Amino acid sequence: MGHDIRDLVKKSRSYRRFHEDQRITRETLAGLVDTARFCPCSRNRQPLRYIITTDPEKTADISACLSFALDLPDWGGPVVGERPAGYITIVTEGECTPFTAYDIGIAAQTIMLAAAEQGIGGCMFGSIRKPRLRSVLGFPERYEVHLVLAFGYQAEEVVLEPVGPDGNTTYWRDACGIHHVPKRSLEEVLIGDEQQHPAGDRNPGLGERVCN
Ligand SMILES: Cc1cc2nc3c(=O)[nH]c(=O)nc-3n(C[C@H](O)[C@H](O)[C@H](O)COP(=O)(O)O)c2cc1C
Repeated sequence: MGHDIRDLVKKSRSYRRFHEDQRITRETLAGLVDTARFCPCSRNRQPLRYIITTDPEKTADISACLSFALDLPDWGGPVVGERPAGYITIVTEGECTPFTAYDIGIAAQTIMLAAAEQGIGGCMFGSIRKPRLRSVLGFPERYEVHLVLAFGYQAEEVVLEPVGPDGNTTYWRDACGIHHVPKRSLEEVLIGDEQQHPAGDRNPGLGERVCN
């Protein structure tokens, strides 16, 4: 397909409404995990394990374990027919360190990008009713659940917006059902002395030294 990485990152939005009847195969999701296997991780310990779910009854049960779009309080989540068609649940076995959260984030975004490259939409879920999910998936106690990744062919449009002058970053849905996601500008996210100097201006940033 050949995507530019910037275009792929911009395309990889959080989708929460799908064509539930357009199923995703286990092989497709296993392929995404197969890409994430090569991700960097703290001390190369590779503590992450993945549970794939594509069975329609089970994916429906998992949907009921998740909180969809807490910042859209008037929306109760996807209805039957628009729920995700597949899930990857990220778990760990054994002790987690503060770095495990980074490992999970890196793997999760890699999976989302690999899905987007194939035209598959998705969303990460950190708000999980974990005891309920545990009973749906039926995995042993020694695994700890961290993040659930939902997948499907998206049935909604998501557009990026600049953050307005009020600085509000809350996403919203308009009257046509289009989901809008404000993102901060480059100027806002770049901090420090060098930000004041245009690219190519060799003035050093804070604490930097110039060696002639
Ligand atoms: C670690 C993490 C946890 C998230 N958990 C949830 C969640 O529980 N429910 C949900 O609807 N969206 C969740 N999201 C999706 C975010 O709401 C979404 O990334 C954000 O609104 C920005 O939209 P975008 O992904 O299209 O840029 C999560 C995203 C991340 C990175």
